[in-house]
Amino acid sequence: MNLTVIDHPLTRHYLTVLRDKNTPPPLFREAAKGLTYTLVLEATKRIPLEEFEVETPMETTTGYRVSKVVAVPVLRAGLGMLNAVLETIPNVKVGFAGVARDEATALPQEYYSKLPDLSDATVLICEPMLATGGSLSWAVDKVKSSGATNVTALCVVTAPPGVKKMYEDHPDVHIVTASHDRELNENYYIVPGLGDMGDRLFGTL
Ligand code: URA
Repeated sequence: MNLTVIDHPLTRHYLTVLRDKNTPPPLFREAAKGLTYTLVLEATKRIPLEEFEVETPMETTTGYRVSKVVAVPVLRAGLGMLNAVLETIPNVKVGFAGVARDEATALPQEYYSKLPDLSDATVLICEPMLATGGSLSWAVDKVKSSGATNVTALCVVTAPPGVKKMYEDHPDVHIVTASHDRELNENYYIVPGLGDMGDRLFGTL
């Protein structure tokens, strides 16, 4: 299974703040950012580096730089993870994938997308809640049709049906998450989960 569950004290702390139903939107946004830092560090462990000569004040030595990383937040909840990615990864570019979940069927419906050329890029899709997997699988289809071959998904929480769908549709995609939760309820929400990520980020409850 291409699933990494982060076991770091800061990840657990921030996830608990996100799970708490009494956390107000400003603190929720801060915790989403803090948690995403920890996901980014894990997800970028093996990204390619360019080697070049750098002049220190003493002599020339070998330096390294990160290149060609593209973050793709799945709108709208993925925006809650974007600042942490922008602040952590040098030269990162950003594409957008807008998909709404049909509340009756839970199937993904595209409403916007804007992606740069993704050939040779490391693509980090920010999809906080991997519930049924419909939106993430759709987003991976989109980035692959723009040339992506190296895709990692950053998820705050995953659930078994979403991970299973990803394993069936896109077994090459690495999923990095803070928690693999128990199940989905009858409305396709993750349990124990943290509720509706977009509503809690943006105060639209
Ligand atoms: N989307 C959310 O925001 N929360 C869930 O639990 C599932 C999907």
